[in-house]
Amino acid sequence: MSEQQKQQTAKVYEVTVTAPVNIAVIKYWGKRNKKLILPTNPSLSCTLSQDHLHTCTTVRASPTFDRDRLWLNCVEERIEASERLLNCITATRQLRAELESKDPSLAPLSKWGLHICSQNNFPTAAGLASSASGYAALVSALAKLFELPLSEEDQSKIARTGSGSACRSMFGGFVAWQAGELDDGGDSFSYQVAPATHWPDLHALICVVSDAKKGVSSTSGMQTTVQTSELFPTRCRDVVPQRMEAMKRAILDRDFETFATITMKDSNQFHACCLDTYPPIFYLNDASRAIIQLIHAFNNQKVDPATGKPVIRAAYTFDAGPNAVIYAPKGAMRELVQLVTYFFPKPIDRPSQAYYSDQFGLFSESEY
Ligand code: DP6
Repeated sequence: MSEQQKQQTAKVYEVTVTAPVNIAVIKYWGKRNKKLILPTNPSLSCTLSQDHLHTCTTVRASPTFDRDRLWLNCVEERIEASERLLNCITATRQLRAELESKDPSLAPLSKWGLHICSQNNFPTAAGLASSASGYAALVSALAKLFELPLSEEDQSKIARTGSGSACRSMFGGFVAWQAGELDDGGDSFSYQVAPATHWPDLHALICVVSDAKKGVSSTSGMQTTVQTSELFPTRCRDVVPQRMEAMKRAILDRDFETFATITMKDSNQFHACCLDTYPPIFYLNDASRAIIQLIHAFNNQKVDPATGKPVIRAAYTFDAGPNAVIYAPKGAMRELVQLVTYFFPKPIDRPSQAYYSDQFGLFSESEY
């Protein structure tokens, strides 16, 4: 072994990153290419602050590792069983191999085994965007470990091949994922519409209605929708493109009323498509529907004397599960938290699960 090889082998090649969850306000649902994860429609989301919901991933490369291994929430998973994991690992490893072939002084990380350890601080696969933060963390950790000169846009394309919504978690703030038209996915990536600092008054409240693993995964659910829903083509063709433009404008103008109205309508239409899927998919439960009614009642409380219309101060949205995310201006949050905890109290008999309960729990973006 040469002196250089000895030094390389002695060095620890390890990187730890955290990636945030994002919650879509215009939903991605449906793929036109399953392997490359190319969507049927563009989508838009808000990346939440990393302080609350995130995935923390450590990747380590070593010549002593004879194969790649992954631990998810401390339990070892079979990497070979996941084409999506392999997509992300192979793509980044290939880029590293290209760097190594150009610069022989680089340690041959592309030939070594990897150990990946990933931890979510929230219920995995309960419709709380765990795959989004998970693949975003994995791809940014690998890009860092392999010292790849990739832009966030390039990283978002790789994260997309792990899980569609993950490409949006590569950016903070308000993020759009353009569907793209190319067959190779070269134009299907995310970009930031505005940073979080653009609209600091907008807050999100995550209401954990259930931390159970969802019955129908997004991946299989969305393809059944593509194949069977008659409402779905109309959504993709006639509704989402206009909503994307209106939503971007609302964000740039900090127009909460438009932001909230589109958010609620888009969540409702996504769940209507699920119901229109055959056999139907039910992600919402009674508690979810009660939250929808509560938010509409809350919004009907105040009327603008000039227009005679209700003043919209909160919006709900639901992903592929019963858990609600409520977006509202900071000033309305205290009242909302009081209302939600009044109608959906935490079970006091399970103090150790204070914020994860099968009845109701809360995460808030900040202290109210
Ligand atoms: C309802 O990104 O989990 O949360 O690409 O198959 O991994 P795959 O699906 P995934 O789907 C997310 C669907 C959604 C809406 C959204 O986040 O836009």
